[in-house]
Amino acid sequence: MASASGAVNKATYYRDHWLEIDAQRLGAYQQLFQWHPAMEPLLAAAEIAPGQVVVDYGCGPGGLAVELARRVADGGHVHGVELNETFVAQARENLSAEGFSETTTVHHITDDRVPLGDGAADRLVCKNVLEYVTHYDAVIAEFYRVVKPGGIVHVIDSDWGMMALEPLGRTQLAELIEAASCAYKTPLIGRLLYSELKKAGFAQVAVKIITSADIRGRMLPVLVNMIEYARVGGMSKERADDLLGQIKRAVVDQTFMFVLPQFLVTAIK
Ligand SMILES: C[S@@+](CC[C@H](N)C(=O)[O-])C[C@H]1O[C@@H](n2cnc3c(N)ncnc32)[C@H](O)[C@@H]1O
Repeated sequence: MASASGAVNKATYYRDHWLEIDAQRLGAYQQLFQWHPAMEPLLAAAEIAPGQVVVDYGCGPGGLAVELARRVADGGHVHGVELNETFVAQARENLSAEGFSETTTVHHITDDRVPLGDGAADRLVCKNVLEYVTHYDAVIAEFYRVVKPGGIVHVIDSDWGMMALEPLGRTQLAELIEAASCAYKTPLIGRLLYSELKKAGFAQVAVKIITSADIRGRMLPVLVNMIEYARVGGMSKERADDLLGQIKRAVVDQTFMFVLPQFLVTAIK
């Protein structure tokens, strides 16, 4: 987010770029964060079922929350929790358009807390959010607090140190990740989740990695964002344009490949 002087604060950018999202990114996110049946393996271990109270921490525009609402049905309730006010409004709108306004609540939060009592939830799902929070250990402790004994916390997150992106090769990819890292508070969160959830006191913690190779450029919006983050991190416009040009040409000549493993960590209280 730009300050009054127009400058970006690199130290807080990991949070600021979610507090205030530019229009181009915002448009892409409705599509990018939509639930798709091919995503089932990401969610299966959360064992979402009718009648449950489920928290979706960092729910964005509500793509996953709509699917969770479908699964908990009439007897359950989904609580979306979100930092960005526009996403809160979009999530409410998307849930209402699908007929879930009665069985869902979307909370706007700025304090990294879940506005529910101790043990109020059967499930808590958090997808691609913990890499952006200021203190992931405090947020995980909050997740522990809010689920009931026997409840499940299911965290899905990336590990940017395990990313592959062709045709950039190792050196250029390292340059891009380094420059873009100001956009993530904990870019290597994926590999930390297992031990952090264990430390939080959960009785059982399981970890799994799911990945797929994007060879058609479906994930290009993620890379466009990453190049924008790298600009904030100090990459020159010429260099950023050069990297993006290489990536886009590779999609056309079919030498493109993007792999970003997703860590799924499922913890039972
Ligand atoms: C990469 S998006 C993921 C959105 C959604 N979970 C999904 O996977 O479709 C990250 C989301 O986390 C939200 N977020 C970032 N930091 C947050 C915080 N400290 N508290 C709550 N939400 C946060 C962002 O506003 C954004 O909606």
